Amino acid sequence: MQATNSFDLANSVTTARDYIQSEFAGLIDQAVVLGSGLSDLALKNYSSVIEFDYADIPGLPESTAPSHQGKLKIVSNGEQTLALCAGRHHLYEGYSAQQVCALTYLLNALGANTLIITNAAGSLNPEYNPGDVMLIEDHINFTGHNPVRGQDQTFGIEFPDMSQAYDNKLAETMLSIADSESVSLHKGIYIGVMGPSLETSAERRMFRTFGADAVGMSTVLEVIAANHSDMRVLGLSAITNSALGDENQQPDTIEEVLAHASIAGEQIKRLLENYFG
Ligand code: HPA
Repeated sequence: MQATNSFDLANSVTTARDYIQSEFAGLIDQAVVLGSGLSDLALKNYSSVIEFDYADIPGLPESTAPSHQGKLKIVSNGEQTLALCAGRHHLYEGYSAQQVCALTYLLNALGANTLIITNAAGSLNPEYNPGDVMLIEDHINFTGHNPVRGQDQTFGIEFPDMSQAYDNKLAETMLSIADSESVSLHKGIYIGVMGPSLETSAERRMFRTFGADAVGMSTVLEVIAANHSDMRVLGLSAITNSALGDENQQPDTIEEVLAHASIAGEQIKRLLENYFG
């Protein structure tokens, strides 16, 4: 892991982009970041072009989280080229906001104009069950970090707008796919926290009063970076545990989170397969 105060984002992204382009000459159309339980996503009509371990991409921090592979796969159906990214960097691993977002800026530098972001999240909404899927309508960045802080304007403007951080058209498309696939897709607000400790029950009750429906330890910074670099964003959360913080709150275990991530993950895979066709 690199010391956070010596990370040069622009230089890292250029180094990583140049390395990938030395092995793969084309451009990427869309990118998908695969959270826990989804890393083995294989799209029917797409074949593999090339794949990279994050560890082999100079400039990119290594992913250290369990259940995250750290692989960037480029796949194509002859018309569309996608980057499927299994694994991401998290604040809770000790990375800075800019290190967390190096992958996002890299995907944009490789040509991606759309970012589909998935994650595992606890439900703050009593109507959600573990194993469900939520379309992220908007987010609350409760991490206390921001990847744009301290940047020059290499990647985008100084005060990027976030009033429409998740693309409406992409959301509508995904909702109609869910309808036709009979996947019940909640629509809700994701609140991003730093972790790695889970929230206290009082914190969860507070987040519910904020209007948040799901809580997780990723996504919000990447979505800020994606908007900063003018990408369209679609977000899907795998609901992995009940995080209501009420009198019935059970202790959270990583086993439960991973088991439900894979149940919700199956539905997210169906949605994505249909979306990419
Ligand atoms: N809180 C934070 N992050 C999470 C949770 C949670 O309850 N579940 C999965 N990721």
